[in-house]
Formats: sequence, C-alpha cells, structure tokens
Amino acid sequence: MSKMQKTLIALLSVAVLFLGFVVVRVGAKPASSVKVVPIAQGEYDPAVWGKAYPLQYESYKKMFDMSPSPTGYGGSLKVQKSDMQPEMIANFAGMPFSKDYAEDRGHVYAVEDLRDSKRIGPASKGACITCKTPYVEQFYKESGWGYANKPLSELMERTKHPVTCAQCHDSETMALRVINPAFIEGQARRGIDVTKATREEMRTYVCAQCHSEYYFEPGTTRVVFPWDKGFKPEEMYSYYAEKPNGFIQDWKHADSGAPMLKAQHPDYETFSNGTHAKAGVTCADCHMPYMRKDGKKYSSHYVTSPLKTLDASCSSCHSQGTEWLSERVKTIQDQTFQLQHTAGQNVAKAHAAIKKASENPNVDQAELANSRELVRKAQWMWDIIAAENSMGFHNPDQIMTTLGKANELAHQAIESANRAAGIGLL
Ligand code: HEC
Ligand code: HEC
Ligand code: HEC
Ligand code: HEC
Repeated sequence: MSKMQKTLIALLSVAVLFLGFVVVRVGAKPASSVKVVPIAQGEYDPAVWGKAYPLQYESYKKMFDMSPSPTGYGGSLKVQKSDMQPEMIANFAGMPFSKDYAEDRGHVYAVEDLRDSKRIGPASKGACITCKTPYVEQFYKESGWGYANKPLSELMERTKHPVTCAQCHDSETMALRVINPAFIEGQARRGIDVTKATREEMRTYVCAQCHSEYYFEPGTTRVVFPWDKGFKPEEMYSYYAEKPNGFIQDWKHADSGAPMLKAQHPDYETFSNGTHAKAGVTCADCHMPYMRKDGKKYSSHYVTSPLKTLDASCSSCHSQGTEWLSERVKTIQDQTFQLQHTAGQNVAKAHAAIKKASENPNVDQAELANSRELVRKAQWMWDIIAAENSMGFHNPDQIMTTLGKANELAHQAIESANRAAGIGLL
C-alpha cells in the first residue's frame, strides 16, 4: 500500500467515526418542551404530578400491564426464575433466594412485591426500601444511614407509593435527579460528582441509582456499591476479595460451606462496558423512547421491555427494520440462556462435589478450602449474568466471556474437591 493510500484510509476512518458520532447525537434528540408546573417538595403521589403532566402519567400507568416478553425471557409476569433454571435452588441453598426469586415487573409494583416477598421477614432491615420508593429521600434526611438499620416494617408503614415521579425529577424544575445515597457515594468514590452530570449522563444515572450491584455493610446495613476497582465482573470480585468494610460474604452455602456472594441486578455495570454505552446510548433511549400524541412529543414512561416498543425504541438509530432487530435480540438471548443454564448446572455440581468431599473424614482441608474459593468465584461469574435482567442483550461480548469463566471455574472446583477427597481423576 502506498503512503497516499494509507493516508486516505486513515482520513476515511476518521470521517466514518465522526459520522457515527453525529448519528448517535441525532438519535438523542433534546427533551420535548413542556410547561413546568411546580409541585410541592416531598409529594410522592404520581396522580398529583399526573394532573400537570398527563401524557407522562398516562404512559406511566401502563406499567400495571402484566405481559410476557416477546422473546420469552424477562417479561412483566411474576414467575419464579427457577421454573426455567432449577439449578438456582441448589446454588442459593441456605439463603432466601432459594425460596423466592421472581422475575421483575413494572415499577408500580415495587413496594407490593417487596411486601409479598418470601425473602422478607420480621428481622428485615430498612435498607431494603432503598431502591423501591422516593420516601428514601425523607428517611435519609431524618436519620442519615441510620434508616438502613431500622426495622423494615416501620419504614414500610410510612411508604405510600412505589417508584414514582420524585424518584427521578426535581418537583419544582422537573430536572432529572438521583436520590439514592448509595449511588451518589459510589460515584463519588469513582471521582464522579453526580450534581455535575450532563443531561445525557442523567438519562442513565436515574436508572443506575437502583439497577446496580450492592452489598450491606456489616453492622450498619448501609448500602454500598462495589465500584472502587471498576465495573467488570473480575474487578468487582477482587474488590470483594479485600473484605471491604469487614464484609466477607452474603451467606454460607448450605451444602458446600463456601462463603458466597449474591449478585444483584448489575444492569448498569454490565451495560456500561457494552457497545451501546460506548456509543453514548443511554438507558432512557431504549426504555423511555419518544412518543407522540395529538401532535405532542413526550418521553414514554412505560418503562418495560423495549421489545414491546421496538420501533420507537430502536428505529431512531437503526434502519434495519424491526424484524431484523427482534431476531438479533432473540438470538443473543437464546445463546446467553444456553450457556448460562449450563454454567449454573456446573456450579451446582461443584457444590455437590464439595459437600461430598467435606463428608470424607480424611479430607485434605487446604484443598477443600481451595475448592470453596473456586466455587465462590465460579458462582459469582454465573450469577453476575443470571442476576442481570437483559439475558445477554446489554453486553453480549462481556456476558459470553464471563459465562465461559464460570464454566471453567466450576470444573476446577469439582477437580479440586475430588483431589481433596483423594479421588483420582482418570
Ligand atoms: C427506585 C429504584 C429504581 C429506579 C430509579 C429505576 N428502577 Fe427499574 N426497577 C426497580 C425495581 C425494584 C424493579 C422491580 C419491581 C418489581 O418487580 O416489583 C424494577 C423493574 C424494572 C424493569 C422491569 C419491567 C418489566 O416490565 O418487567 C425495567 C425494564 C426497569 N426497571 C428499567 C428501569 C429503567 C430504564 C430505569 C431508568 C429510566 C429504572 N428502571 C429506574 C427499581 C428502580
Ligand atoms: C440499546 C437498547 C437498550 C439500552 C440502552 C438499555 N437496555 Fe435494558 N433492555 C434492552 C433489551 C432489548 C432488553 C431485553 C428485553 C426482553 O427480554 O424482553 C432489556 C432488558 C432490560 C431489563 C429487564 C426487562 C424485563 O422485561 O424484565 C431491565 C431491568 C433493563 N433492561 C434495564 C436497563 C438499564 C438500567 C439500562 C441502562 C443502564 C438499560 N436497560 C439500557 C435494551 C436496552
Ligand atoms: C425512573 C425515572 C423516572 C421516573 C420515575 C419518572 N420520570 Fe419523567 N422523565 C425521566 C427521563 C429520563 C426523562 C427524559 C428527560 C430528558 O431527556 O431530559 C423524563 C422526562 C419527563 C418530562 C419532560 C418531557 C418529556 O416527556 O420528555 C416530564 C414532564 C416528566 N418526565 C414527567 C414525569 C411524571 C409526571 C412522572 C410520574 C408519573 C415521571 N416523570 C416519572 C425519568 C423518569
Ligand atoms: C441512540 C441510538 C441507538 C438506539 C436507540 C439503539 N441502538 Fe443499537 N446500536 C447503536 C450503535 C451506535 C451501535 C454500534 C454501531 C453499529 O453497529 O451500528 C449499535 C449496535 C447494535 C447491535 C450490534 C452490536 C451488539 O451489541 O450486538 C445490535 C444487535 C443493536 N444495536 C440492537 C438494538 C436494539 C434491539 C435496539 C432497541 C431496543 C437498539 N439497538 C437501540 C445505536 C443505537
């Protein structure tokens, strides 16, 4: 290739990149203009806000709808995840997720579903309310993180509404805002001041304040986001390895005795390293697309599977047509599910092998401890995907490699357990 050709190619690449950037910017159109009607601070009833903003409120109420997802994953029906993946019961043995682990549904059900969850009991702490309602603003104002250690029942009594308008909007200016203190602190430790975020960033942050991985600080039950080393599954795992704030484990596995971590809906972390996030696409672009009614443009507040609004959600950027898009999503999800199911089953086999080894009176204790560390990590790599809500779509590449690691580590855990028990490998 001549020097001239090389220069031309370089120039062309820059032009293509720039065009790509412009397309994404155009995709993210500015907010529709609305007349701002100031609402009293601390007003959490969406019906009151709805009088001022009827289009947004009408679409918000669609979240009461309960229907499956067109691809058969996710969806807004309250079904148990273990129906399709029975290995979950074995993998969460000894902790409440083995009793009740339902698929998520619309925001309007957040408080009701918390109240009805079999994972909740008289000993449950106020921290659980953090990602369910804007009342957390009041609780935090009154007692700082002290609210997290109060009995959940006491705070539930005062909580009259689930995720509503004040969760994401300043009631006087309608500007986007975040109120979850754990999110604000987690970002601050990464050097990010959320009060200085751009509008585009806020279109993701309002969701990320809840759709993120967390743990409870021992003693105080303060909610902490494990982000100090980064968002990748390996980075969060090594953060936990340092026993942050004295946190060692979420629970001890009933069969293998391994000190386990429970991953929680890491939608934001997974999404952040994927193609769409890197191209500047935000959660709201797909989950709150622009709609029109009577000539008025507004953001859909029917936050659900974008496959139910595929054209509005994707076609502002993609010209391939809805059939191609839904086929792509379905393919990604089918492949993720297969690998996730296999990895989950292998992790379950590892717990069983370790249990068997531990029952052997002559077991090699050091090797047994090694097998428990391996299964802890294997399960983390599986669960960080299984607990993510998009069945692979938010970041197909990272999800596939992570599940590959889960499988490999599960096999290593089985081999290690067999070694500990003195069972030779053929
Ligand atoms: C206050 C915390 C909170 C915020 C903020 C929040 N969510 Fe949620 N989200 C939840 C909870 C809790 C559920 C599960 C509710 C249930 O199952 O009862 C949920 C469920 C969902 C679902 C499943 C809906 C269905 O039909 O199955 C989607 C999709 C979703 N959220 C996306 C988003 C997006 C996108 C944003 C930002 C625009 C966002 N969420 C902001 C807490 C939150
Ligand atoms: C490029 C489009 C796109 C973006 C951007 C996006 N998502 Fe999604 N999301 C999807 C698709 C597609 C699904 C799969 C829906 C299904 O299975 O029916 C999904 C599924 C989900 C679900 C589960 C829905 C259900 O039916 O249970 C949640 C929760 C969710 N996303 C949250 C988020 C959050 C939070 C962000 C930002 C951090 C985000 N998404 C960014 C496209 C997107
Ligand atoms: C989970 C977060 C979230 C909740 C809850 C929420 N909104 Fe929004 N809202 C958004 C986002 C994101 C936008 C887009 C803002 C932007 O791009 O500047 C928006 C935009 C708006 C706008 C500006 C016009 C438009 O349609 O883009 C109005 C008005 C509005 N919302 C009203 C409401 C009302 C009323 C409620 C309660 C019934 C509500 N919102 C609940 C996230 C939320
Ligand atoms: C705001 C713009 C925007 C929106 C909205 C958007 N995308 Fe994309 N999408 C992109 C960009 C940019 C890329 C990366 C460059 C490319 O492949 O064109 C991409 C890539 C993809 C890819 C290939 C890469 C991958 O991760 O597998 C698929 C599939 C895809 N998008 C599906 C969807 C679907 C489905 C929706 C709606 C639920 C959607 N997109 C919404 C901008 C967008």
